[in-house]
Amino acid sequence: MIDDIIYEMIQLNGKDTRRINHALKVYGFARCIAGRELYSASDRLAVSLSAVLHDIAIHHCESVYGSCGGKLQEKEGEGIARPILEKYTNDEALISRVCHIIAHHHTYAKIDDICHQVIIEADFLVNFDEGEFERPAFETAVRRHFITTAGKELAKAMFGIC
Ligand SMILES: [Fe+2]
Repeated sequence: MIDDIIYEMIQLNGKDTRRINHALKVYGFARCIAGRELYSASDRLAVSLSAVLHDIAIHHCESVYGSCGGKLQEKEGEGIARPILEKYTNDEALISRVCHIIAHHHTYAKIDDICHQVIIEADFLVNFDEGEFERPAFETAVRRHFITTAGKELAKAMFGIC
């Protein structure tokens, strides 16, 4: 299933390889964190699907609103992700969980799903590496928003942030 969802994400992004690569990088780090934190198989699947689809509304937001701001993406994400997920599973609990994470992937308060936490950390790691933040802002983000040991270890291993 995850391979088909990756292909769906690639098709939707078309020639925008930068965003395809962004999603694949977030997917890789998210899997690493969830696996090293010994998440269950169902949690790891929710993490994988959420990572691949977390930014799926970007192109839609750009064409409809002329902007791909985080809040717009959160608002539009489920409308695009849900039909994709429904092609491959009828597990409504999984679909709603993934859609909820996509709809809150720029929301750092009240994270009550361990899979949501992993997406936040993986997206921060990739966004910093892609130049989206200055180092002090990223250091603050790691201190404030990184909860998992595996996520903190990645921030330390790649960027020397403790
Ligand atoms: Fe992202």
